[in-house]
Amino acid sequence: MEDLQSLETEIISGINACNDLGQLENLRISEVGKKGRVSLLMRELGRMTAEEKKTFGPKLNGLKTRIANSITDQKTKLEQQELNRRLQSERIDITLPSAPEQCGSIHPVTQVMDEVTEIFTELGFSVAEGPEIEEDFYNFTALNIPPEHPARQMHDTFYFPEDENGNRKLLRTHTSPVQIRTMMAGPPPYRIIAPGRTYRCDSDATHTPMFHQVEALVIDRNIHMGHLKWCIEEFCARFFERDDIKIRFRPSYFPFTEPSAEVDIGCAFRDGEILIGEGDDWLEIMGCGMVNPRVLENVNLDPDEYQGFAFGMGLDRIAMLKWGIPDLRDFFAADLRWLKHYGFAALDIPSLSTRNKDTRAKPPIRQKGGGASHASGGDSSRSGSDGRPPHQIKKGGASHASGGNSSSEGTSGSSPHQTKKGSK
Ligand code: PHE
Repeated sequence: MEDLQSLETEIISGINACNDLGQLENLRISEVGKKGRVSLLMRELGRMTAEEKKTFGPKLNGLKTRIANSITDQKTKLEQQELNRRLQSERIDITLPSAPEQCGSIHPVTQVMDEVTEIFTELGFSVAEGPEIEEDFYNFTALNIPPEHPARQMHDTFYFPEDENGNRKLLRTHTSPVQIRTMMAGPPPYRIIAPGRTYRCDSDATHTPMFHQVEALVIDRNIHMGHLKWCIEEFCARFFERDDIKIRFRPSYFPFTEPSAEVDIGCAFRDGEILIGEGDDWLEIMGCGMVNPRVLENVNLDPDEYQGFAFGMGLDRIAMLKWGIPDLRDFFAADLRWLKHYGFAALDIPSLSTRNKDTRAKPPIRQKGGGASHASGGDSSRSGSDGRPPHQIKKGGASHASGGNSSSEGTSGSSPHQTKKGSK
């Protein structure tokens, strides 16, 4: 107990000499910790007389408090030093250019969907949507495709298990059910497009079980085929960015339109490439027709009062054509390298008018290899109006017009094909 003053001096100078927090903590334990020197002195108090306690008690307590205070002060000082050291060594140079960002991009199909939507909204259409899990009624029956119709088989439909009433829901095989839903939801006139996912049980380089279509429907009084033709011509000119695009309507069959046609655009096949808007060849891009009066009756519209047209095309297919993408499956393989190559910058405006200002090099409107590579031996039983990717049908080869099973074309339609001039 004797020399409390010199003990205090010794401990406090030890504390002040600490130059890191670990050292300070060790010192704290050895001086004021449970078995530390100061604690042992405190213990001695218990053995003292009341008189002695009176003298040493306050002294010892004072010593303990001063030591605790100087430990706290030293701790704060060391922490501040440590912080300053880190601030100094980890200083951020905000003048350095930032590391390149990993930026997402717009999928080519989304880009095409936006672009098609933009064109049609400029033409006065609005966008309608419907469920991908559909009822047989909307997908087939109301569209004048009765249960025994071959188109139902040709669609290779994905069905769900039967419910308790024996009904089976299905994944919609085309976007045409949105026509029915639109017409049942309110009175005419209608001027809608319905872009969206569609499903058929099919998979190879030109078919994927899920693909995208866009359907258009116009119903009003006095709508005729001239309106349909103008609309399609206008769309093609804008989408393919050519005023001189050639368009051909080939008679065809769809249960929900009468008369029906398939639309070909003029193109050239040169050195394995398809050049759109040039040459004397034809490439099928969509199915269309005047809405069958039976369909109008199915939705309680009077065909003598209302008429209209519909057309449908494959978005993936026109994306393939536009960007020269040869294999449809690549669209959905989620390969980042591929998406980087074909994707569009996140803020890209899907507008034809702004495309030329875009800094990203865009491929010309041609398709290399791809379409043409599926060319040989066209499967005439399949129509392409759903816009599945193209296969070419050689001059004089089976086309819809010559060999196809016309009763099942169109709605079955998996592979649009190119028809050479004069093939029909
Ligand atoms: N629904 C048709 C198909 O999937 C395309 C189509 C739509 C044809 C509208 C004519 C009119 O093949």
